[in-house]
Amino acid sequence: MYCVNKISDDMYWIGGNDRKITVFEGAIPIPDGMAYNSYFIDDEKTVVMDTVDHSVSKVFYENIRHLLDGRKLDYVIVNHVEPDHSASLEDLILRHPEAKVVGTSKIKAMVKQYVCWDVDEKFMVVKEGETLTTGRHSFTFINAPMVHWPEVMVTYDSATGTLFSADAFGIFGAHNGNIFADKYDFDREWLPEARSYYTTIVGKYGNFTANLLKKAAGLDIRMICPLHGYVIRKDLDKYIDAYMKWALYEPEEKGVLMLFSSPYGNTQNAVEIVAAELAEMGVDNMKIMDVSRKDPMEILPEVFRYSNLLVAANTYNAEIFIKMEEALFEMKSMGVQNKRVSIIQNGSWNPASGKKVKEFFEGLKRMTFVGDMVTVRSSVKEETRADLEKLASDIAADLR
Ligand code: FEO
Repeated sequence: MYCVNKISDDMYWIGGNDRKITVFEGAIPIPDGMAYNSYFIDDEKTVVMDTVDHSVSKVFYENIRHLLDGRKLDYVIVNHVEPDHSASLEDLILRHPEAKVVGTSKIKAMVKQYVCWDVDEKFMVVKEGETLTTGRHSFTFINAPMVHWPEVMVTYDSATGTLFSADAFGIFGAHNGNIFADKYDFDREWLPEARSYYTTIVGKYGNFTANLLKKAAGLDIRMICPLHGYVIRKDLDKYIDAYMKWALYEPEEKGVLMLFSSPYGNTQNAVEIVAAELAEMGVDNMKIMDVSRKDPMEILPEVFRYSNLLVAANTYNAEIFIKMEEALFEMKSMGVQNKRVSIIQNGSWNPASGKKVKEFFEGLKRMTFVGDMVTVRSSVKEETRADLEKLASDIAADLR
């Protein structure tokens, strides 16, 4: 049975919520499921804005049939061809062969790789800046390459000031009843899921995201309709500011994220000592994560969030312990920049992890090292404790 959400007099959310999925794209833990957004514009010409993942396509087709109410579907605008948004395009056009598919030539080329019908016959190619008027609404198309794939565009409706933003401003998690972001607590519900979504999906392409935000700054945007998550219609600056920070790799908070690997608890002990010393010195924004207990995709958003990192890695086979290496690999693959890094290494006979951690961060952009690397030999002794206290003092000074 159909299930739609009214956004305005003639605009509807027609997507679906997958509450069974626990891992997105086979890689990212999403305990709260996923929303796949699509929108219907009930104008003189009818418009569907993007389609949905296979998992929610049944209700999606029913939503469209319900809203068309016997009329024909005129346009399907495709902003992003990744299958979580285009998987239903093939069947939608088989069900509504009269509809024209609208997108740039890049989108057209990619759609060809996914569907069985004659794309040349069905497709209406648009260029950046061109406008499609459907009656009351006028849709202008804006290229947004690498947010998150190269073909991505966003669509701006000048009649309502709505930006259909593709993956930008998306969040993880199925909807909790209301479609509007302002019905939820920004810091508690939107920000963590959005940070997670941005850093694990779009994070590598910050400069492209920043370019899109700069282009968007010239538009009178009154509402943002992303392909995941909630419709944003109030306090838009708050959401755009959060995105701009991530895009420019600016930390959200002055504070220390402490990542440790510690098979027998001794490297953890070193980290706890630094944390306790920092607390004594008045530092109150710290987070400690055991990389063996967290997925790298859960660590990455916290790396974006904090200004400082303390990386405490034990040596394993003369290398960085594998779980720490996995966390570091994810930082590299998502292009993390602009961190202030401190290092603790542990090794019982040949401490080697610290040098490798340092070399790793030297390979990333805009990294600053804070304090001297501390070496723990098996477990913390009095002399090592003094080194840890000095490191804490250097980190505290850096945070000031
Ligand atoms: Fe939600 Fe890049 O797809």
